[in-house]
Amino acid sequence: MDKWNRISLKDQTKRILSELSKNKSYESDYLLGIPGSYLDSRVFPRSDIISGNPFLTTLSSNPNHIGVHTEGSSEAFFSGTQNLEREVLAICAESLLKCESKKYDGYVASGGTEANIQASWVLRNFFREGGLKNNEICIMGSSDTHYSIHKAANILDLQVSIVEVNTETRQIDKNGLKAILKKLQSEGIRGIIFFLNMGTTMFGSVDEIGSIDGILCEFNFEYRYHIDAAFGGFIYPLTNPKQKLNFLHPKVASATLDAHKMLQAPYGTGVYLCRKGLMNYTSTDKAQYVRGFDSTLCGSRSGANVVAVWMILHSYGYDEAKKFCEKLVDRAKYLCNELERLGISFFYQKYMNIVTIKAECISREIINKYSLVLDSAEDPQWAKIVLMEHVKMANIKDFLEDIKRGN
Ligand SMILES: Cc1ncc(COP(=O)(O)O)c(C=O)c1O
Repeated sequence: MDKWNRISLKDQTKRILSELSKNKSYESDYLLGIPGSYLDSRVFPRSDIISGNPFLTTLSSNPNHIGVHTEGSSEAFFSGTQNLEREVLAICAESLLKCESKKYDGYVASGGTEANIQASWVLRNFFREGGLKNNEICIMGSSDTHYSIHKAANILDLQVSIVEVNTETRQIDKNGLKAILKKLQSEGIRGIIFFLNMGTTMFGSVDEIGSIDGILCEFNFEYRYHIDAAFGGFIYPLTNPKQKLNFLHPKVASATLDAHKMLQAPYGTGVYLCRKGLMNYTSTDKAQYVRGFDSTLCGSRSGANVVAVWMILHSYGYDEAKKFCEKLVDRAKYLCNELERLGISFFYQKYMNIVTIKAECISREIINKYSLVLDSAEDPQWAKIVLMEHVKMANIKDFLEDIKRGN
């Protein structure tokens, strides 16, 4: 799939209610064996306000999307909204990350942390299947990588190795990477799970797969990449369609995208994607009561979250989504130009919407007044501004005026 279409709210409602009608209903079907959560009718009355709004209707009917629905059989009770999940994953995998049609699996996870842990879990088991032991597998990433890799390593009993970045470009220091790889080789590491960022948390920086791969190739490691596009996944592929962090690279195994960041979806809408076949490495035949078994970290999860993501994606369609993202990039560029004129140091990744300012260049009063996010509470070096829909041009202008006045 190259692009996806815009669908009017009226047609979205028709489609979602039609898929919802294919789900079994707690109200009108026999669901004697499901310990699923029929929302308590004293607290969640099925009022007229709810009926008609497809997201709230789905929320109130509370489908459980447990398991993975891109492969094999799934729970038949909620087959309608599972169709919508497959469509969401197709947009993410095919249109945004250039995966071949039907050559991927995935699910809507609780968020970026879960998707990153799921990715590490899948790849650890993949390497173990190839004969490697836990102490021969290492998770790697730049020093700007999200801290969830440390959670993953801790849970999965793996080593983590962090590569410093160049402070000007925020790109991985190549000599540092070579030195670490030599050391890991001498310590007996054989398998590497390498996290590549499409939008680091603090800088929005995007790792260059070409130069990193050039170095990894010089060694004899088994390695696979996981793309952490939790922040950038719903903007960078649209604003920079020629970007290289995607499934066209043969060593890219999986990706995380968070709909509850740039896509402005409710929390609980992280997306995990991997190449077809890889999810088998976390399958368990112990999940006997779940049809199609379960290879996800979370187990039960809400189908309403899927509907929210589906609705947002189709309220735009590819072309409108691209325009929307480009508007945010323009706002970021405007801010950068003004900061440059004021002689204030900052980092900006082209095609992204995060501007990270040297903390020493602005007063604490301004940082607090505009709720900028600091890289460290104790010893802040950087303060970031995320240009999203709620950060209006008028807000940016007020911020710049305050800087000029030295407030
Ligand atoms: C790049 C990146 N990865 C992962 C995460 C974790 O996402 P979540 O908070 O949804 O678990 C974040 C959160 O800010 C992030 O910026």
